[in-house]
Amino acid sequence: MELIKDIDRMRTYIERIEEGKIIGFVPTMGGLHKGHLSLIRKGRGDSDVLVVSIFVNPAQFGPEEDFESYPQDLERDVKLCKQEDVDVVFAPSREEMYPDDYFTFVEVEGYLTSTLEGDSRPGHFRGVTTILTKLFNIVSPDRSYFGEKDYQQVLVVKKLVNELNLDTQIIVLPIVRENDGLALSSRNSYFDEKEREAATILYKSLKKAKEWTIGGEKDPARIIHKMKELIEKEPLAEIDYIAIVGPNSMEKVQSIEGEVLIILAVKIGKVRLIDNMRVKRSMCQS
Ligand code: PAJ
Repeated sequence: MELIKDIDRMRTYIERIEEGKIIGFVPTMGGLHKGHLSLIRKGRGDSDVLVVSIFVNPAQFGPEEDFESYPQDLERDVKLCKQEDVDVVFAPSREEMYPDDYFTFVEVEGYLTSTLEGDSRPGHFRGVTTILTKLFNIVSPDRSYFGEKDYQQVLVVKKLVNELNLDTQIIVLPIVRENDGLALSSRNSYFDEKEREAATILYKSLKKAKEWTIGGEKDPARIIHKMKELIEKEPLAEIDYIAIVGPNSMEKVQSIEGEVLIILAVKIGKVRLIDNMRVKRSMCQS
């Protein structure tokens, strides 16, 4: 396995790959966990050459967010990638990706990037789409792998790729969870024991919401209200948003028919977590 830190070397590596070989790409910010590994394993199986990028992207963090403390352990991540038979880890420095005189940004405008995560984290998606455009240009992947954990990110990335005619196929994989339901996240490493326990409230509330929906509740406002009540019983939890939206539009639904996405962001202590669940109400229910 190669560890490449500069853009020119990464490009040269890609240029030397034989025509017709499939290049798979898993972009990450490191702090690798089983969620990332599921993308890497799928990518490994599908590709001739698999590239994993590790770059904590300052452009997608707000000024009050955890950029400075974001978990970083390149040595550990590289070791994990070696074990997964990754061909290249691309881990550029901040200066390499954003030199001092850097001024170019790529933005998906409109509702999709201004609702939910876009509303709570202004500029976040602009940072994501900028770094991904750069990475796609450097790595030229045939296929790129993303997790449903960041559901809105997936929709934004698909729109970016479609509208800028970028030549990579976006493959989306399901959320990987701990045994108690907590979605794997690099940020889980911030938790002490009490917070870790409290963090299960996100999944618990999603599961309950699914039960209520399948039980016949069609009113999103009532489900959200009951989820709020449940989460507010957890003293360490502070809700940022809970929404029930169309899984392709992210627009709030008035009534639950067919498939919806239940999505939420909750702070546990100082750590902000997101999670989501797709729920399908069978059409024959009244
Ligand atoms: P990061 O948070 O490191 O996540 C990298 C990829 O792993 C994303 O596609 C994310 O959805 C996926 N992932 C994270 N937790 C997961 C889980 N529990 N189950 C399944 N997949 C999971 O997302 C980013 O980095 C950045 O925004 C990035 C795309 C790299 C751009 O900087």
